[in-house]
Amino acid sequence: MLLRDSLRKRGYDVDAVNSAQQCLEHLRTDPADVVVTDVQMSGMSGIDLCVELRQRYPDLLPLVLTGQGGLDTAIAAIRAGAYDFITKPVKVDALAIAVQRALEHLSLQREVQRLRRDVNKDMPIDGIAGSSPAIRETIEMIRRVADSDATVLVTGESGTGKELVARALHRLSPRANEPFVAVNCAAMPAPLLESELFGHVRGAFTDAKRSRAGLFVQAGAGTIFLDEIGEMPIEMQVKLLRVLQERKVRPVGGDEEVPFEARVVTATNRDLETEVEDKRFREDLFYRINVVAIPVPPLRARAGDILLLAQYFLKRIAGRTNKPVQGISGPAARLLMDYDWPGNVRELENSMERAVALCRLDEITVDDLPAKVQEHQSSKIVITTESPGELITLDEMERRYVRQVLNAVGGNKTHAARILGIDRRSLYRRLEEPRHEQKPAESASANHPRTPTPVPPSHASNGHGASSSPPGSGAATGHSGEAE
Ligand SMILES: Nc1ncnc2c1ncn2[C@@H]1O[C@H](COP(=O)(O)OP(=O)(O)OP(=O)(O)O)[C@@H](O)[C@H]1O
Ligand SMILES: [Mg+2]
Repeated sequence: MLLRDSLRKRGYDVDAVNSAQQCLEHLRTDPADVVVTDVQMSGMSGIDLCVELRQRYPDLLPLVLTGQGGLDTAIAAIRAGAYDFITKPVKVDALAIAVQRALEHLSLQREVQRLRRDVNKDMPIDGIAGSSPAIRETIEMIRRVADSDATVLVTGESGTGKELVARALHRLSPRANEPFVAVNCAAMPAPLLESELFGHVRGAFTDAKRSRAGLFVQAGAGTIFLDEIGEMPIEMQVKLLRVLQERKVRPVGGDEEVPFEARVVTATNRDLETEVEDKRFREDLFYRINVVAIPVPPLRARAGDILLLAQYFLKRIAGRTNKPVQGISGPAARLLMDYDWPGNVRELENSMERAVALCRLDEITVDDLPAKVQEHQSSKIVITTESPGELITLDEMERRYVRQVLNAVGGNKTHAARILGIDRRSLYRRLEEPRHEQKPAESASANHPRTPTPVPPSHASNGHGASSSPPGSGAATGHSGEAE
């Protein structure tokens, strides 16, 4: 009764009973998180009570008060399923600390269970994890068009999961039991791509000892996935357009057309509208493949998914490599959330792969993360340092700001470009810059790590003068005068 009152004073909701039997009866109607029990009691002992409790209530944590027998009793209690023991005479402070620890343990355990449930719940379609509004919209779109035969264009930055989306589209469609054939249009020169896609007849070229059906025909009534379509050589684009219009292919060297049934899904990380403007992609083909567009958001536009995905990869990788890694430390999680993931989900997956390999404890710590994630400064942080070593270039500053604006508008590039007062093409260029800088050959040629751009980018492409920038955008930046 005394312990009950002292714990109540500390804010816990406590009931006291007189025996193990009474405890079990009490729990039937009044569930509890923690049971504090003595060892020697008339009737059932505290040790036996622990065994009973662990069986009936796996989520309840027993604490045992040990006195007589000391360590042996304590060991027996822990073996029987006690979460902790407190030696007698009981100090209320020590008891309160043990109870608090148990409750914290429980709440963590519940959080893990909740996350686990969430991961499963939010994976309604084949391996696409995430619960952010942005990815939900993508998933919703996949569901809506999976049934139809419409040609689908999947767009999104590199590593966002476009192929995953294409496969999900196939698996959710009535064509799921037919073949799924993926072709990387960027990987082959035009003549090879043509014979791969449309097939060839015997003797069509030197090596063509036999005729061979192309992938359009091999896909049967399934799905043909034309990946990196933005990179398709222009001379192939006109041929593909005809094929899509006629729904027939003509094998290389043949003069008969063969009909095909497959559904066509394409993907690109390029902005095809810009490619069309720049005459690198045929406008008519663009309209033909863009019947339904499914945009896959960049990872930075689904901030809520970063930890969920990290945990998802962690579980998968740890399971595969038999490492006992369970979770991610608080500071490491913070860094993962602050980083802007230019390589998107693939970069996160690779980072977790590396982290699991390096990890020496049962959770991923800051040290296990790649240097650029550790060193990344959140774009929201105002740079106040005056030490020359920590200052960043204008280019870098510009890039961060562009990303921040993109983030703020949920990844909508048209909207972001309007706010920034530049056209979409310049926006893309600015986002792409880091890739050019990483070329080792360029940095080796100069003393400074970055090759200076011949024309200061802020003046050259700031919207004014660029034909496609919206009217007034130059004025909005306030740069027109200053630039001179
Ligand atoms: N939502 C997600 N849930 C789980 N895994 C994902 C998710 N999105 C992407 N991935 C994983 O990230 C990696 C990259 O995905 P994918 O290859 O589909 O991207 P992509 O957009 O086709 O990239 P690229 O443009 O570079 O070809 C894959 O290993 C994929 O399984
Ligand atoms: Mg891909």
